[in-house]
Amino acid sequence: MRGKFISLEGGEGSGKTTAIHFIRQWLESHNISYILTREPGGTPLAEEIRQLILTPREEPVNNATELLLVFAARAQHLAEKIQPALDKGTWVISDRFLDSSYVYQGKARGGDTKVLDQLASWVVGDNKPDATLVLDVPVELGQERVVQRQHQDRLDKESVLFHQKVRDGFLECASADPLRVRVIDASLSLDAVQKQIEDQLMQLSKTWSGDE
Ligand SMILES: Nc1ncnc2c1ncn2[C@@H]1O[C@H](COP(=O)(O)OP(=O)(O)O)[C@@H](O)[C@H]1O
Ligand SMILES: [Mg+2]
Repeated sequence: MRGKFISLEGGEGSGKTTAIHFIRQWLESHNISYILTREPGGTPLAEEIRQLILTPREEPVNNATELLLVFAARAQHLAEKIQPALDKGTWVISDRFLDSSYVYQGKARGGDTKVLDQLASWVVGDNKPDATLVLDVPVELGQERVVQRQHQDRLDKESVLFHQKVRDGFLECASADPLRVRVIDASLSLDAVQKQIEDQLMQLSKTWSGDE
């Protein structure tokens, strides 16, 4: 049986890494085999591409360059890590995936949705996540949570307006595909966020066991 593929989405400081920790506990308590991974990255080559994308640099990065690098990393990640795991029945939990491209390279940078659709269909095809949890927080709260972070990457350094577009973009992904994309109110306490995530995982696993 094919494993399930779950992606986590949301802006910086929304709580994706924290959510992955909760999901890991849930998977272990249900004896489900899983791998945790992230985008851009996830394999040695894709992690090298991640550095190219995220390292702050003086040379302006062309939007098409950024978009193609993200999809280049994704092609490698899918072929070398995600697909083999799913084929073995292992669940894959990814910190960011395809929705981030629609939101960052599409909505926030103004990339053409038709181009994104074509790249998605070529590179990702049927390997879309079975479920996506969007961690939603107001931009200011996300930024407050990461102020202590030493290291700010090229996208973290974008304007508040950019991050507002990112938040709106993820909420649009959820309204466009509400069955797959579930919004978690991540502005609440850690306990309340954990509870929402567990509720979603219970619902999803019920739906999935009904499919079989
Ligand atoms: N619900 C929450 N309430 C308070 N602090 C939180 C909450 N979720 C995450 N944090 C804290 O906010 C910071 C950013 O969370 P993190 O999970 O690293 O976000 P992301 O991976 O989306 O950037 C971390 O210090 C984390 O401990
Ligand atoms: Mg994180």
